[in-house]
Amino acid sequence: MKDLFEKIKANRGPIGMHAKESHGYFTFPKLEGDIAPRMVFRGRERLNWSLNNYLGLANHPEVRKADADAAANYGFAMPMGARMMSGNSDLHEQLEKELSAFVQKESTILCNFGYQAMVSAIDCLVDRHDVIVYDAESHACILDGVRLHMGKRYVFKHNDIEDCEKQLQRATKLAEEQNGSILVITEGVFGMRGDQGKLKEIVDLKKKYQFRLFVDDAHGIGTMGTNGGGTGVEQGCQDGIDIYFGTFAKSFALIGGFISSDEQIVEYLRYNMRSQIFAKSLPLPLVVGALKRIELMRKHPEYKDKLWEITNALQSGLKKAGFDIGVTNSPVTPVYMNGSIPEATNLILDLRENFNIFCSMVVYPVVPKGMIILRLIPTAVHTLDDVNYTIESFSKIVGKLKSGQYMSDKIAAF
Ligand SMILES: Cc1ncc(COP(=O)(O)O)c(C=O)c1O
Repeated sequence: MKDLFEKIKANRGPIGMHAKESHGYFTFPKLEGDIAPRMVFRGRERLNWSLNNYLGLANHPEVRKADADAAANYGFAMPMGARMMSGNSDLHEQLEKELSAFVQKESTILCNFGYQAMVSAIDCLVDRHDVIVYDAESHACILDGVRLHMGKRYVFKHNDIEDCEKQLQRATKLAEEQNGSILVITEGVFGMRGDQGKLKEIVDLKKKYQFRLFVDDAHGIGTMGTNGGGTGVEQGCQDGIDIYFGTFAKSFALIGGFISSDEQIVEYLRYNMRSQIFAKSLPLPLVVGALKRIELMRKHPEYKDKLWEITNALQSGLKKAGFDIGVTNSPVTPVYMNGSIPEATNLILDLRENFNIFCSMVVYPVVPKGMIILRLIPTAVHTLDDVNYTIESFSKIVGKLKSGQYMSDKIAAF
């Protein structure tokens, strides 16, 4: 038998094992100052492409004022208790109504955290007789929800409709035998590659198979569809999405999440979703803050237009300069390069220290060995100058990468 703490100390996990060298720089970096394209990292201003502040609302003067006033008026304790017991309010209900209208659904339940909402909703919607069919590259919160499922699950290859149909055939056979139902789960926009889920094609499969579709649209809410109503609106199939999830963590620049669906389904979630029944309700400043953000999104469609102007300039500029940005058709912009982990580390150091550009980097074990992804998140508050400077800088660093200048095993000190 092993002591639990000794076991943990001996194996800190695939990312944690590098904590000693990476903490504070590659992991847990501190970006300081107002949330904007230019923020301070280690005492110096950098051009920042790493935040999901898509519409630029985080530092919008009306948002800052609404947040500050709500904090002063209500404090963060209010209301106390879970919604079901003592934590309900008119403002929570108003926000739910406005969100329903925003995403074109009958009803909505607010949730305190997006991640927890997805896990708990999946747990709540299916029982052991039901079968889940889900995309292989689903976000961790979907995978965790699926892990809680007591029945069978079938995974389909990422965005592969043929394979999705194959898994639906297997699921149908099993669900018929068990007298169960089928829940298909996928995403509106995949946060790593930036490709939209093939929602329309999945909805079309309803003509042949009986299932309900649950879509996590964390990156799509606010960025896709008319006035930001989401990826289903963008693809003209919002009605075919039976259960719609959005988070406040990205376009809304807040915290919390919500699930929208038919009224009776949302009522079922209200009375059965464990993470909401047994947890404190969303504090009022966050509710009031979310109302302000929806108001701004409705009033200012030009924020979304600006986001797309920057997105299109960045993506077409990168492609023109010869970069591989994969299959993105959303603002999420991955730039794929080839190199070892030491090369990736030296490249990011150069980018941050000599070009003053801050973006996220993804390497093995998140992606296959030898692949480096630099992930850029454009926002409505970036400028075309920011785009041009970044593409020029990327051209210089990729030149250095290709000529082996980052090859040294020795990681430059930071
Ligand atoms: C696809 C997806 N789903 C769910 C979440 C979790 O949402 P939250 O940050 O609100 O917990 C995220 C990350 O924020 C996400 O990218």
